[in-house]
Amino acid sequence: MKEIVIGFLGCGNVGGGVWNLLEGFASEIAHRDQLKIRVKKVLVRNVNKARTCAVPQELLTSNPAEVLEDPEISLVAEFMGGEQPATDYMLRALESGKTVVTANKVAVALNWHRLQAAAQQHNAGLYYEASVCGAIPIISTLMTPLQSNRITKLMGIINGTTNYILSRMYENGEDYADVLSDAQKLGLAEPDPASDVEGMDAAYKLSIMASLAFHARVHYDKVYREGITRITAMDITCGKEMGYVLKLLAIAKREGNVIETRVHPTFLKADHPLAQVNGSFNAVYLHGHACKEMMLQGRGAGDIPTASAVVGDILHAAMSDVHVHPTFENRATPDPLMVFTDDWQSRYFIRLSAKDAPGVLASVAGSFARENVSIATMMQKGSVEQGRVPLIFITHGASEKAMQAALKHLDPEVARIESMIRVED
Ligand code: HSE
Repeated sequence: MKEIVIGFLGCGNVGGGVWNLLEGFASEIAHRDQLKIRVKKVLVRNVNKARTCAVPQELLTSNPAEVLEDPEISLVAEFMGGEQPATDYMLRALESGKTVVTANKVAVALNWHRLQAAAQQHNAGLYYEASVCGAIPIISTLMTPLQSNRITKLMGIINGTTNYILSRMYENGEDYADVLSDAQKLGLAEPDPASDVEGMDAAYKLSIMASLAFHARVHYDKVYREGITRITAMDITCGKEMGYVLKLLAIAKREGNVIETRVHPTFLKADHPLAQVNGSFNAVYLHGHACKEMMLQGRGAGDIPTASAVVGDILHAAMSDVHVHPTFENRATPDPLMVFTDDWQSRYFIRLSAKDAPGVLASVAGSFARENVSIATMMQKGSVEQGRVPLIFITHGASEKAMQAALKHLDPEVARIESMIRVED
């Protein structure tokens, strides 16, 4: 029977899940794959800390060299999170010819070119299925079966925390701050929620997925990002009345050599497949010229779902004679043949607090018309309060720059902008 000797970098929530999954599954793996997996060393910050898994004390070390410089260890599984020291440790492992399996979206999104170059140079594998959307096999789907496709559009709900918050706001009309604080009490949102609610987590994941979908490196700083912190119950209620559901969407589109990537709150028609994805679930919806529309849905976080992707990668790596890498040039700088645009086409939901007086609607419509933005639907919501009334517009397709310019023409005394939310089909 083949034996693979592994070292862990980190043993927190995900590492503990991987240990537990491997332990409960070991005999089945040996039976199916004729493969014995032996974890030899586990790097942790504090060897005396209580763990969520029964890793034997003698395996724990706080010295990275015991994992990275052990010649018997041929595969390193990294679950430390964050850019550093994880990136440096992974580079050291790859440079010694060890294969790396990682759940670290930040390190991959920011340093992918360095990691891939080291892997290729030293004939090692680099696997990162768990870095994007937990258990959902989107990385291998893009890297293998969908290679036969020209993918033009990919949209995803790829952050479970924000989907949980927005789902509850939609269902119960609750305010953002109340749901966030409740989610923190339930352990569904981090004590410091910035990476999730400001969209960084989704932007890291999108930069990885879009690169694989479009065969061109999309760097993290090319992803436009807007979080959900300014979303109000009023926006969600108005959208709901007009037949829309609000999601934090990660959107990537390619037309010719023009690529757009963006993460922002987005209204979707209530019957869109992504609109049905609620709570902490993740989903990726894409369009390829051969596969047409498809959607993958599942658990994007949690120890065991994430371990599902990690252990899958470990088994795949252990059974592969040749490690496969993306074929696009994985560059440190943007590909000069590609145009990364921030002037995309969208429809827009605009909520204004308008003066209740004759001519106000005409003045707003005039501002829109000056920039060629055409109105599709308009709703006056609620009653007049202190001489002002909420007006909601949904536009036809317009360019982002045109919409921004149209809003600048509005006089806040007449019509103050409360929200501008993009609408996708
Ligand atoms: N914090 C992420 C989420 C999970 O809420 O989906 C890890 O990427």
